[in-house]
Amino acid sequence: MLKIGLTGGIGSGKSTIADLFKTLFNIPIIDADIIARQLVEPGQKGLGLIQHKFGQLVINQDGVLDRNKLREIIFTDPVKKQQLEEILHPLIYAEMQSIFEKQNSSYSILCIPLLMETKQCSFVDRILVVDCSVEVQIARVMQRDKQSKKQIKSIISSQVSRQYRLTHTNDVIENTKSTNQLAEQVKKLHNQYLNLAILNSE
Ligand SMILES: Nc1ncnc2c1ncn2[C@@H]1O[C@H](COP(=O)(O)OP(=O)(O)OP(=O)(O)O)[C@@H](O)[C@H]1O
Ligand SMILES: [Mg+2]
Repeated sequence: MLKIGLTGGIGSGKSTIADLFKTLFNIPIIDADIIARQLVEPGQKGLGLIQHKFGQLVINQDGVLDRNKLREIIFTDPVKKQQLEEILHPLIYAEMQSIFEKQNSSYSILCIPLLMETKQCSFVDRILVVDCSVEVQIARVMQRDKQSKKQIKSIISSQVSRQYRLTHTNDVIENTKSTNQLAEQVKKLHNQYLNLAILNSE
């Protein structure tokens, strides 16, 4: 069973591509963002560890994580940011691994926005980067999230560069034009991954 790490900058089109693998070929999608959210729901291990480290200050009256408060704390304090990552990242990767092992498919797509930033490239067998220009990223995210250009730029500069991604990947999907050009690229990669999965199992 092959583990494909799907990554790319904010708004590059990771979720769009993951949806295509799912709808066209019924490939399992394991999404780090969804897992990260689930891990901090009330009663979950992640929330317990965050509460232990950061105190009651980051928990609302109803026991839910106060994301704004937490964001505020880590935004101004890099040590706290690192502490939070040290809590969450191992939990996220462990959960992804456990879900991956339960799949019955030639390959699975693990959508991991920060795969390169967290230096976890060896967690996957192969990397697939969704690529587009920074200008396109900004335009898409502005339209989707109504965030300011400044906010989006600051997120982009906290991520690895487009160049870094492209020189550390196995495969690339160009998502520069309309979404019509995506299905063909996904189909090609799907066939390639099926062949690799066969070679891998021999
Ligand atoms: N080729 C395209 N043409 C036009 N819009 C697109 C294209 N690809 C993606 N989009 C739109 O751009 C936005 C960002 O795409 P998507 O959510 O797939 O990116 P993402 O990489 O998953 O982002 P994030 O890093 O925030 O999770 C979405 O609103 C999506 O519908
Ligand atoms: Mg996404």
